[in-house]
Amino acid sequence: MLGMRLLVELADEWKQLTFQLGAARCTRTREKWQAKLTVEFHAIEKGLSLGAPRLGFGEKRILQLIEDLRSYRDRFSDPAFLAHPIATVRGYIAFNKDRGFEPALVTKALRRLESEQPAPVAADIHGGVKPVRKMDLLSGGCEFERFALTRHSIRDFSTDVVTREEIMRAIGIAQSSPSSCNRQSWHAHVFQGMAKDELLRFQGGSNGFVEAVGAAVVVVGDLRNYFINEIHQPYIDASLFAMTMMFAFHGQGMGSIPLTTSFKRRRLREFRKRFGIPDYQVPVMILGVGHLKEEFNVACSARNDVLKIVTFHQVVGV
Ligand SMILES: Cc1cc2nc3c(=O)[nH]c(=O)nc-3n(C[C@H](O)[C@H](O)[C@H](O)COP(=O)(O)O)c2cc1C
Repeated sequence: MLGMRLLVELADEWKQLTFQLGAARCTRTREKWQAKLTVEFHAIEKGLSLGAPRLGFGEKRILQLIEDLRSYRDRFSDPAFLAHPIATVRGYIAFNKDRGFEPALVTKALRRLESEQPAPVAADIHGGVKPVRKMDLLSGGCEFERFALTRHSIRDFSTDVVTREEIMRAIGIAQSSPSSCNRQSWHAHVFQGMAKDELLRFQGGSNGFVEAVGAAVVVVGDLRNYFINEIHQPYIDASLFAMTMMFAFHGQGMGSIPLTTSFKRRRLREFRKRFGIPDYQVPVMILGVGHLKEEFNVACSARNDVLKIVTFHQVVGV
C-alpha cells in the first residue's frame, strides 16, 4: 500500500522533473542556460580562490565558456547577465598577468567576445576573486547583516588544527536550527585526518584544497522521521542545520566550505559503504571547516539583483 502511494507521488515528480529540470532542453530556456553558464564561470572563481592556483589553469574550459557565452548572447542578448562571466574571465586574465603569465588564447577570445558586445562591460564590475583579511571577518560582531555578509565559502585555510571542541561547539549551536515539528532529524558525521582526506577526495568538489581543509562534517537527514507527503523534508531540515553550522563556525572566527553530496546512484551507494552512512540517512552536504589565514582570496560569487528573485502577491479581488 505504502509502495503504491509512493509510486503515485514519485510519478508526479517524475513528470515535473522531466520537463522542468535544468538538464531538459537546457539551451532553449534562458534560466536553464544561465544556470549552466554560472556553474562554468563559477569554476574559474573557485580555482582562483585556492591557496596557490596553477597559472593558466582551465584554459580549454574557459575557451569553451567564451564560446558558450557567445551562443547565449546570440540567442538572448542579456548584457546584464553576461557582465559577470565576462568580468570573471577578465579577473582570471588579470590574476595570471599579475603573476607574470599571459593566458594568450583566453585574452584573445575574450577580446573578440567583448568587441562584439553592444556595450562594454563596466570596468567597476569586479569578477574572479576578492581579497579578504581575517581581521575584517572577525569584526563581523553581533550585527546580523554584517555577520552574514562576511561569511564566505573558503578554500584556503591555515594549517591550524581544528579541535574536537570547536567542532562540537558549532554542532551544538546548529542544534538551535528550526525543523519541521521540531523533529531535529539531522546527524553530523565528523571526519578528521586521513579519513577526512579520503572523504574529500571521494567527493571530488574540493580538488586542489583537500589538505587545506581541517575537518569535514557530513550532514545528513534521517528519513525515519518523515511521512508520505514529506519525502523532501529531510533535505530541508538538515540543510537548515548545515546553514546554522556554517554561521556557527563563522561566529567562532573559523571558515567553512559547503560541498555537494549530489552523487549519481551508484556513487552514492559506494559513498554510504565507504564512509558508514546508513540507508535511512540522506546526505545533504559536506562541510569542510578550518581556521582562517590572516589574508586570503575568496571567489566573488556575485548575487543576482534582489528584484529578480522577489514577487509580491496580492489576493485577487481585494
Ligand atoms: C549544497 C552546496 C554544495 C556546494 N558544493 C561545492 C563543491 O562541491 N565545491 C566547491 O568548491 N564549492 C561548493 N559550494 C560552494 C558554492 O560555490 C558557494 O556557496 C557559492 O558560490 C556562494 O559563495 P559563498 O558561499 O562564498 O557566499 C557548494 C555550496 C552549497 C550550498
